[in-house]
Amino acid sequence: MKTVILNGSPRKGNTLTAINAYIEGAGEGSDIEVIHADKLNISGCKGCGACQCRNGCVAKDDTNATVDKIVAADMIIFATPVYWWGMTAQLKLVIDKCYCRGHLLTGKKIGVLVVGGAPTDHVEYKLIRKQFECMAQMLKWDIRFYKDYCANEKEDLAKNSAAIEELKQLSAAVE
Ligand SMILES: Cc1cc2nc3c(=O)[nH]c(=O)nc-3n(C[C@H](O)[C@H](O)[C@H](O)COP(=O)(O)O)c2cc1C
Repeated sequence: MKTVILNGSPRKGNTLTAINAYIEGAGEGSDIEVIHADKLNISGCKGCGACQCRNGCVAKDDTNATVDKIVAADMIIFATPVYWWGMTAQLKLVIDKCYCRGHLLTGKKIGVLVVGGAPTDHVEYKLIRKQFECMAQMLKWDIRFYKDYCANEKEDLAKNSAAIEELKQLSAAVE
């Protein structure tokens, strides 16, 4: 199984810690690629419609190469900090551009990892979850997991040994 993890965080902090724990749990031999959204040169979708949701994007940037990797994956993991009650703009930019091959994205397995500074019973986690559930319904995605964690300072999640263990167990079960 090929897994692509989309990292929506611009810093080496909690989201990356969650991703690394997940990868560690998956063990050697697993086929996991991490795409760091913040490192990409991707312009915003202009809604021109030239792609017809299958032909790729007319923009001469990292869009097509990135979206092709996502299309080729069996499982997509969206990992994001909470920014202003939603996912980060960096991750949303990539998701918007997935429109250019939207027809090829149906039936994927997906997972969602969210880290915010607020306690996990706050509304931002429900909002983000709902957004992914709507995408999943539209694209017939199989949501394998949705996990949210409260961690604010960069090192906070690494200090949460229960969370790290949960992430390792998660990938051992999923991958
Ligand atoms: C611009 C910005 C907006 C934020 N908005 C929220 C928010 O609405 N809710 C929340 O729980 N945390 C919010 N946070 C806190 C981050 O989600 C939190 O620090 C998280 O651990 C960052 O993840 P990272 O270390 O992977 O970058 C915000 C942080 C930033 C920088």
